[in-house]
Amino acid sequence: MGLLSLLLFLGTLAVSPNGSQEVEVLHQIHPLRPQSGSAGTPVRGLSCLSWRFGVETHNIIDWKTVPQSCENYIGHYMLGDQYREDSKAVVDQALSYAQSLKLAGDGKDVWVFDIDETTLSNLPYYAHHGFGVEPYNATIYNKWANEGEAPALPESLRLYKKLLSLKFKVVFLTGRPESQRNVTANNLKKVGYHTLEKLLLRGSADIGTTAVTYKSNQREKLEKEGYRVLGNMGDQWSDILGTHIGNRTFKLPDPMYYVS
Ligand SMILES: *[C@@H]1O[C@H](CO)[C@@H](O)[C@H](O)[C@H]1NC(C)=O
Ligand SMILES: *[C@@H]1O[C@H](CO)[C@@H](O)[C@H](O)[C@H]1NC(C)=O
Ligand SMILES: *[C@@H]1O[C@H](CO)[C@@H](O)[C@H](O)[C@H]1NC(C)=O
Ligand SMILES: *[C@@H]1O[C@H](CO)[C@@H](O)[C@H](O)[C@H]1NC(C)=O
Repeated sequence: MGLLSLLLFLGTLAVSPNGSQEVEVLHQIHPLRPQSGSAGTPVRGLSCLSWRFGVETHNIIDWKTVPQSCENYIGHYMLGDQYREDSKAVVDQALSYAQSLKLAGDGKDVWVFDIDETTLSNLPYYAHHGFGVEPYNATIYNKWANEGEAPALPESLRLYKKLLSLKFKVVFLTGRPESQRNVTANNLKKVGYHTLEKLLLRGSADIGTTAVTYKSNQREKLEKEGYRVLGNMGDQWSDILGTHIGNRTFKLPDPMYYVS
């Protein structure tokens, strides 16, 4: 789906705030709120901004869905300039860190990337499913994932290309199951991630563990194989918490869903 159709779709979203979470969100409004009225209703925007801040800082955890009253806010955030700008700010920091390192040159210097909402974007899917307001449905989500049509996150692809030119090895570490190996590898390749050291997916032994545990174990395994995880980037805190997290971690924005 092109950006235009995403935007057209967004234009049809109804403003229908409801749900128990709305009350909580409204309570977050600061009494001294600025009168910034340009982007829709300032009250709702500000309260949802507070919610997003809490989510991105990992103060709000274990949440199941985006508050219904924030659907428009999150939709505008994801499809507008801010998401791209926030991602660029993260990638700029990652890049200056990567460029500051002197690699050993033995092929063991690794950058770990998560996949969903880190290197591949599922925004075309989420735009049709309330930007995280709808409860997760594995059947319809996997139908989308199995099409292998997810676009690249442009800023992450930029970082990936620079990392390769700096002679990093790139490892993709994803919560996707082994059954999606082919479609994932093909999807990555198709959008420009053509060179990779490893693609690590959840095997049968990893089913039922949290992402924090699974990903920590995988990174530990990498280190036992002699790799040095110098950088680690993901959209979820579970990508960068746990053990063997790497010398530096980078958190991309994702206000649409939470994975523990
Ligand atoms: C909105 O929430 C109120 C109070 O919980 C409920 O009575 C009402 O049915 C809800 N409306 C919609 C459209 O969900
Ligand atoms: C998920 O979506 C499928 C296909 O639309 C539907 O049959 C199923 O009931 C949904 N599952 C849940 C838990 O809502
Ligand atoms: C993946 O593709 C290879 C060949 O490209 C094939 O042998 C294998 O069965 C496929 N695996 C799955 C799970 O589809
Ligand atoms: C990465 O962290 C390890 C363990 O703390 C340390 O020994 C190593 O010097 C660090 N590497 C770089 C490039 O900072």
